[in-house]
Amino acid sequence: MANIDTLPINITRANKSNLSQVDLSNIPFGRVFTDHMLVADYKDGEWVSASIKPFGRLDMHPAMSALHYGQSIFEGLKAYKNQKGEPVLFRPYDNFERFNKSAERMCMATVPESIWMDGLMKLIEIDQAWIPTSQGSSLYIRPFMFATDEYVGIKPADNFRFVIFCSPVGAYYPEPISVKIEETFVRAAQGGIGAAKAAGNYGASLYPNKLAVEEGYRQLIWTDAKEHKYIEESGTMNVFFVINNEIITPSVERDTILKGITRKSVIQLSKDIGYLISERAVTVQEVVDAARNGNLQDAFGAGTAATIAHISAIGFRNERFELAPVSERTISNNILNKLDSIRLGKEADPYGWVVKV
Ligand code: COI
Repeated sequence: MANIDTLPINITRANKSNLSQVDLSNIPFGRVFTDHMLVADYKDGEWVSASIKPFGRLDMHPAMSALHYGQSIFEGLKAYKNQKGEPVLFRPYDNFERFNKSAERMCMATVPESIWMDGLMKLIEIDQAWIPTSQGSSLYIRPFMFATDEYVGIKPADNFRFVIFCSPVGAYYPEPISVKIEETFVRAAQGGIGAAKAAGNYGASLYPNKLAVEEGYRQLIWTDAKEHKYIEESGTMNVFFVINNEIITPSVERDTILKGITRKSVIQLSKDIGYLISERAVTVQEVVDAARNGNLQDAFGAGTAATIAHISAIGFRNERFELAPVSERTISNNILNKLDSIRLGKEADPYGWVVKV
């Protein structure tokens, strides 16, 4: 049996880098991958192997349980280069912690820090030349884990594979997004898996989102499963509104909303800038009323991939409310600038969010 504290991470380097074929100043989101990935395997109660190897395909058994029953979780975090050109990660320990919480909720093995964090650091060190530095770009990192039991019965799996790959990215939403308040479909119900970063949450959102796109919207704003009275989150992000100079965002006490790391950062920065910000139940009614009477000063999503995504319009039933131009949104623009400056080392990080590789 391998001891997880001493399990070595074997490293096999790619013979040749693909970096020269990529224009890092002009990259789409999520379609370009770096030279290496980390792969670790858990078998019958133990992490048995961990390696960094050339990026490539993973083979799978047709009965692999993740494909059938959805024991599959992921994270998203980003690496940047600071002003000295050194690679840094933004709040990686928060992702590590949330990942293992998702694992517990999905009845999966947890991943030890010696694999998750040490493997991540080593991977970024090896592929650091792939971190783009143009405005709005970063290296998006995708840790994920899935059940690998070769068994058709349904039970918590005994075998898992943990993988981290990286992708240099530009903006997730190159333009401000229009969102529709959803009152028929739900993302998560209380007691469900809304707080876990489980693959199924995203798969289930595709159909309602497709209908919203057909109606001319880019994304949805999810409401609570019981009454569709409260705002939960938006598409792949947490959501914030500014009404009468107060920033409001749904509280995450209930287990239906993902506890976003960008969300936490936005709340902290808002408080420290001196904005009035409240985490509380946010009703559809108050947002729609504010939009209708011109008091909705700002609305934005916050997530790792998107960072801050300005909302250009909100749809509710048969009404569509256009919001102020992004250039006039002082609050979200200030928060975004502050976040960027800290991540890129342009200003001091009093929070310990930025971790050097
Ligand atoms: C992220 O922000 O990292 C996400 O999980 C969104 C993803 C679906 C691209």
